[in-house]
Amino acid sequence: MNSRFACIGVGNLGAAIVKGILNNHLFEISNILLINRNEERLKKLEKELSCAVSKTISEKLKNYSLILLAIKPQDFEACAEEINLNLNKEATVVSVMAGITCAKLKKLLPNAKSYVRVMPNLPVHIGQGVSVIYADKDIEQTEIDNIEDIFNSVGISYVVNDEELIDVATSIIAGGPGFIFQILNDLKSVITNFGFDTETSNELVLNTLIGSLNYYVESEEDLDSLVGKVASKGGTTREGLNVIQDKKLKETFKEIFEASIKRAKELSK
Ligand SMILES: NC(=O)c1ccc[n+]([C@@H]2O[C@H](COP(=O)([O-])OP(=O)(O)OC[C@H]3O[C@@H](n4cnc5c(N)ncnc54)[C@H](OP(=O)(O)O)[C@@H]3O)[C@@H](O)[C@H]2O)c1
Repeated sequence: MNSRFACIGVGNLGAAIVKGILNNHLFEISNILLINRNEERLKKLEKELSCAVSKTISEKLKNYSLILLAIKPQDFEACAEEINLNLNKEATVVSVMAGITCAKLKKLLPNAKSYVRVMPNLPVHIGQGVSVIYADKDIEQTEIDNIEDIFNSVGISYVVNDEELIDVATSIIAGGPGFIFQILNDLKSVITNFGFDTETSNELVLNTLIGSLNYYVESEEDLDSLVGKVASKGGTTREGLNVIQDKKLKETFKEIFEASIKRAKELSK
């Protein structure tokens, strides 16, 4: 990419994205600036990634046209004025901060040219993240393509045209791994109750899940026919599936997501 990239807040998520960028050679190292207030962390990043670093948000920022904001939402207001004063008028601000709307970005960072929100999730750390991207109007397609390339460097990304879907993504995508881990944990403890030891229960749950998902991906069959493949009439799986239906598991999932999306919307206000 021809533009220059700065990351403000290089913590867990920021560092994972910067590593994806470097591994995929999306920007020249000399065109990357990492800004983090934690000096110890900054030194570690400088040594590990060999990029230019800065402890403060300074005039240097004016030389960068793509700015990733990866600080916690609660830290944003305190540094927004400093960022705004040092923004290049052609800069695009890409925020991964949960609950900070484009309207708020525009209000606190009026000097930027364009605003983009992205909601990634934890597996970006292993290059298997899912990210949902929303770009405010007045942004060129080539720039959206560049932002997609950045998030594809740590997984896969999807562009949406409705900012409300970022709240949905905050719940389903960013929160998704949390729900999955909890479900795995519950499955594990149930299996343990049936007599397997904890370690074996963990492996049974994990390997059954991994095998099923890989089979789904490789078979290219639809989910209904895969269920039918496992559950024969009058058999053991059918008996268990009846309980899933009786207990309205689908309704429970809907409730889980609705509660989480409601909270995401409250935080966006
Ligand atoms: N982690 C995820 O899976 C995930 C998923 C989706 C979205 N997000 C969003 O990503 C953002 C970052 O999350 P994270 O987990 O990476 O947080 P994090 O590890 O705390 O990283 C944020 C970093 O920014 C630094 N920072 C704060 N204010 C700064 C300032 N004014 N100038 C320079 N550096 C500053 C912090 O320094 P200190 O250490 O001194 O506080 C910290 O090192 C959040 O807004 C979150 O909503 C995260």
